[in-house]
Amino acid sequence: MSSVGIERISFYTSRYYLDLALLAEKRGIDPNKYLQGLGQEKMAVLPPNEDVVTLAATSAKQALDGIDTASIAMVLIATESGIDQSKALGIWVHHLLSLPKSCRVVELKQACYAGCASLQLALSFIHTHPDKKVLLIATDVAKYGLNTPGEPTQGCGACAMLLSSNATICSIEPEYGAYTSHVMDFWRPNYREEALVDGKYSTRIYLNALEECWNEYQLASKRTFNDHARYCYHIPFSRMAEKAHERLCKLSIGTNFPEAISDSLIYSRTLGNSYTASLFIGLASLLEQASGDLSEKRIGLFSYGSGCVAEFFSAKVSTGYQKYLKKELHEELLAKRCALNVSEYEAFYQFRLPQDGSEYQVNPHQCGAFCLTGIKNHERLYSKSTMP
Ligand code: HMG
Repeated sequence: MSSVGIERISFYTSRYYLDLALLAEKRGIDPNKYLQGLGQEKMAVLPPNEDVVTLAATSAKQALDGIDTASIAMVLIATESGIDQSKALGIWVHHLLSLPKSCRVVELKQACYAGCASLQLALSFIHTHPDKKVLLIATDVAKYGLNTPGEPTQGCGACAMLLSSNATICSIEPEYGAYTSHVMDFWRPNYREEALVDGKYSTRIYLNALEECWNEYQLASKRTFNDHARYCYHIPFSRMAEKAHERLCKLSIGTNFPEAISDSLIYSRTLGNSYTASLFIGLASLLEQASGDLSEKRIGLFSYGSGCVAEFFSAKVSTGYQKYLKKELHEELLAKRCALNVSEYEAFYQFRLPQDGSEYQVNPHQCGAFCLTGIKNHERLYSKSTMP
């Protein structure tokens, strides 16, 4: 059987961003704290007419461009920014993209880890149904309180992957190391829009989980640090991924050469945390921005979801993967975004749809292929975008 893994990958983020130097100035903080201390330059800010559904649908439309969708048997959505307690947001995406009626659609949650969990579940399904494909979309909006230490680590984005037994981009290897522990480092009770976080504690837990997963993965795979040409980590902010890599180098007495992770951080530096999507946007960044040819090279991947569940696994890059990537599309998306000032960012941040079911029409803003037009009888309404 041909290899199972990623056939297509594409991400989408808001068309608006805030330069973190402006935020630093407004909050009375040295801009180098954000730029060097966190490794972040900009953060994506969601306009009122976009949400996790429109982010997901646009990323999936891009990933499925030119693909016959008839063989898609399952749509898995990973998110921790769900819009409904019962209905999977993937059903809206399924509807907007007119995917086959024979699909299973379900939403999965475990903080940022849900994307990795969905990937592993999808791969098992494809191994038993090699003629079928799975559309996996990780979509999230990272929101912390205004003027809190987490504020500069906000962001948003969705990453869609078509998974199949025709892994034209990379195959996912079966060995993995997983780790679960009940910790309260970051969580969002149902009555809150913003996460609660014990920030510095969360960074220590992240590194500890990495160590646990790496040990498990090494036992299962018998591989060493140098068996991986590149590494890609969950990226709540770039410095966190760099610290993770430094930890792994130290543990494995491996050589820390910056190219091993630097390309995976390029996109996230300017869009911020996108929770479930962040690891996979990092993977797209690595594949699209790597200077050399990565064909047949192994990538080590680490997923971390607060609470916490984490996993280390690996991917093998396919020969000729470059022609299936959406490099130009992604670069153009990031380059052509609109800059916000701090007041405009705060206005977008504070926007809430009515909570009482009353009818409301959302003002138009720049958006992706789909937009949220309003709400009526507690039902969110979407349409294809009329924006250029
Ligand atoms: P903070 O209060 O800004 O921390 O919060 P700090 O004062 O320690 O500063 C951060 C770094 O900037 C430090 O570097 C400072 O030295 C440096 P470090 O010691 O760590 O290497 N610094 C400067 N550098 C240059 N010039 C300066 C300067 N000043 C200070 N002038 C924190 C930082 C990450 C805690 C905060 O942003 C936060 O709470 N973020 C949200 C939580 C988070 O992202 N946690 C990451 C691990 S958990 C995770 O990844 C899961 C998550 O994605 C959620 C999910 O799973 O769903 C979050």
